[in-house]
Amino acid sequence: MAGQLKEYLQDPFLKQMYSQIRQAGPLKSILVDITHVCNIRCQGCYFFAEDMDKNKAPRDEAEFDAFIEREKTRGTNFVSVAGGEPSLMLPRLKKIYDNFWLMVVTNGLRRIPYAGFENMPIAVSVWGDHATDIVLRGSGKTDVFSRGLQNYKDDPRVLWYYTTTAGNAHQIESVVEQCVANGNYVLFNFYGDLSHKGGEVDHHRGFEEVRRQINRMIERYPERILLSSYLSQVVSSGRLYQEEWGYEVCCSISADNEVNLARIHNGKPYNTHFRAYNPDLKSTRRCCIGETRDCSTCFDVWAHFSWVMLNMKAHLASKQEFTNWLTTMYLFYLINRIVDFEAGVRLLPELHRRVSQGHPPSDALQPGLSLPVGQLMHQWQ
Ligand SMILES: C[S@@+](CC[C@H](N)C(=O)[O-])C[C@H]1O[C@@H](n2cnc3c(N)ncnc32)[C@H](O)[C@@H]1O
Ligand code: SF4
Ligand code: SF4
Repeated sequence: MAGQLKEYLQDPFLKQMYSQIRQAGPLKSILVDITHVCNIRCQGCYFFAEDMDKNKAPRDEAEFDAFIEREKTRGTNFVSVAGGEPSLMLPRLKKIYDNFWLMVVTNGLRRIPYAGFENMPIAVSVWGDHATDIVLRGSGKTDVFSRGLQNYKDDPRVLWYYTTTAGNAHQIESVVEQCVANGNYVLFNFYGDLSHKGGEVDHHRGFEEVRRQINRMIERYPERILLSSYLSQVVSSGRLYQEEWGYEVCCSISADNEVNLARIHNGKPYNTHFRAYNPDLKSTRRCCIGETRDCSTCFDVWAHFSWVMLNMKAHLASKQEFTNWLTTMYLFYLINRIVDFEAGVRLLPELHRRVSQGHPPSDALQPGLSLPVGQLMHQWQ
């Protein structure tokens, strides 16, 4: 393995990305739902679909401070902040920002001020063009997308976190055009139809057309798109070599939660540090986006990032496969500003050019080739 790595890293471009990641070091990540409150009700939002708001955020600031201290002591260095709506909890968001690398996901209705949050990556959610977004997220009244565009015009911190719906792939071009014209970046996510609305938002249609449109956007705006065609293919196909996406392989599970005991011992890699904290900051749930959720409805892009990232060794059979893995790692570090963002985005056109769009050879992952995470992390130390 060391020999293959050495050979691939003769390539200065790959070496540059690899060195930056190594320099940043391994991530010890958690997810926190910072509040149980939200100012809108999107249709099929996973947070409310599974009543995650029943675990209330503590009123007492000292409880929040104690949580921060506990996680610092545990060695956590990266926090994904979701909810509920994090922009309703700015003083607590600030405390996370001051202590960890983080990513915050917001609906964009209330602007997160620049002062005090200068270098914070902000993912602003959108689900489709204005008409679609108004129906799915704005209760037929509020143009949530327009409000986000206004609030974050030319804001260098912002990437649009575009949750595409399977039957609305034709909207992707116009949405991306508007996000780019607004001076922001774009990352894609994939909608799971939890409220069984069907029709255009039914994930059973498959995301092949969405994937085709994402590839077009990468070609058109390589300097602005933060998802690679490789990861988009992994999500839309639900396959990584011989593995099929689902609970048995998912790495984004709370390692402390006994509901995951059997999964943890099934030999597949998982993130040993990871916990998805409910708003009460004490209890954890099964995974980043669910408690009892049917995994066949899950196309979560962050969870797929982890799936690829924790299966490094499977990607070592050829330089192209290693490139697919390394670019996935690099994009994760870049999106979350763990590596220098300004310098990193300049690599995007070349990064996208290097990523293969096809399936890697299906026989490349031999049984036992996925690394236990302890070993994997060791490579970054
Ligand atoms: C639960 S929200 C919390 C943060 C914030 N309120 C927001 O909407 O951005 C976290 C992310 O999950 C996404 N999301 C919610 N329900 C989803 C679903 N059923 N399928 C895919 N993504 C979903 C939202 O679009 C958002 O980007
Ligand atoms: S804004 Fe976020 S938390 Fe609120 S309902 Fe929509 S997706 Fe869910
Ligand atoms: S719902 Fe998604 S993130 Fe949660 S365990 Fe299932 S596959 Fe993993």
